Amino acid sequence: MLTSDLSQVVQIEQQAFPSPWPQEVFGDCLKAGMSCWVLAHNGLVDAYGVMSIEMTHAHILNVCVRPDAQRHGFGRRLLAHFIGVARAHRVKTVRLEVRPSNTAALRLYTSMGFTEIGRRKAYYRAAQGHEDALVMARRV
Ligand SMILES: CC(C)(COP(=O)(O)OP(=O)(O)OC[C@H]1O[C@@H](n2cnc3c(N)ncnc32)[C@H](O)[C@@H]1OP(=O)(O)O)[C@@H](O)C(=O)NCCC(=O)NCCS
Repeated sequence: MLTSDLSQVVQIEQQAFPSPWPQEVFGDCLKAGMSCWVLAHNGLVDAYGVMSIEMTHAHILNVCVRPDAQRHGFGRRLLAHFIGVARAHRVKTVRLEVRPSNTAALRLYTSMGFTEIGRRKAYYRAAQGHEDALVMARRV
């Protein structure tokens, strides 16, 4: 992900998430040297994601596929790439959070070997009140 990708990334983010990250958050992730990637063809961003890498584990903070490009395998490719990056950094596990209501993401993560390791109460804003986050992880 380059600074020049951010206008497309933010546009997709706004289409895909109820509480989208603002552009500054992506900019801060780039500046902080996080593992930020886009899948793109002919200058068009199909998917993107952000992962932070700690001493013993990596944490996927954002994964998103452009709504009209979903269900074409981009989410799976991006996740596989993140696991490869985590492996190259010799961390032991990859973690992420997901809304229990996000069936598509849950199926993707489960099919790639992630299992639930905990819950964060009222982690996400929901249409009414808040929604828990499932914390999922897999060994690298
Ligand atoms: C979740 C998301 C990243 C999946 O990406 P994708 O490119 O559409 O998914 P893929 O085509 O790689 O599909 C991989 C698997 O995920 C599951 N899946 C994906 N979309 C699904 C859907 N709409 N319903 C049910 N399962 C789905 C399936 O198990 C699928 O495998 P299959 O095609 O062999 O059945 C995408 O839907 C997305 O960006 N959603 C909005 C943002 C978001 O929720 N991000 C995750 C936050 S935790």
